[in-house]
Amino acid sequence: MKFFVDTADVAEIKDLAASGLLDGVTTNPSLIAKTGRDFKQTIAEICAVIEGPVSAEVAAVDAEGMIREGRILAQIADNVAVKVPLTMDGLKACRVLSAEGTMVNVTLCFTANQALLAAKAGATFVSPFIGRLDDIGLDGMQVIREIRAIYDNYDDLATDILAASIRTVNHVKDAAIAGADVATIPPAILKALVKHPLTDAGLATFIADWKKTGQTIS
Ligand code: E4P
Repeated sequence: MKFFVDTADVAEIKDLAASGLLDGVTTNPSLIAKTGRDFKQTIAEICAVIEGPVSAEVAAVDAEGMIREGRILAQIADNVAVKVPLTMDGLKACRVLSAEGTMVNVTLCFTANQALLAAKAGATFVSPFIGRLDDIGLDGMQVIREIRAIYDNYDDLATDILAASIRTVNHVKDAAIAGADVATIPPAILKALVKHPLTDAGLATFIADWKKTGQTIS
């Protein structure tokens, strides 16, 4: 399973990239707004830090506008994945941009049928939003399971399932169990994955006992 980080904070991305655990980055207009920085400059900086796909979302809502903006974003770096919304216009833009060799991430997916359409439109990634489904009392993970089952039925559906809107460490585990190809994870959740009180307590004991031996490893 690949790990993307869901942020547009370049300093945070650099920090996490040093762990060797990052396979890509996703941004969205809300995350870009949060930085207060220039969009294209920010994407260029992220692409210089991360070799894997970096999602940059179009602002247009019509297919023609999305294609025009998508082409501009794709020129920033080879590893830009253009993000388009899961609308009929977004699917049209996805088809055109994918045919031009651009990676496309179809975002704001909330049903397995929508994901089926994204795959038929040639998307590189489809992003089902788990947390936002859970927020309204639905089961986000069930949608991931349904998409996995559908994609596995057809060899010609080559789209990667990118589990998005992840809010908890259990979302990461459950998305992995459900067979998502990628999880895009907020920095705080990514850092929390490593934590366990028994790991900390066990390490403290080992360090204390090792000191008692009076030895060094050299
Ligand atoms: C994915 O690409 C989105 O940027 C993100 O996962 C949305 O998460 P949210 O629902 O927590 O805003």
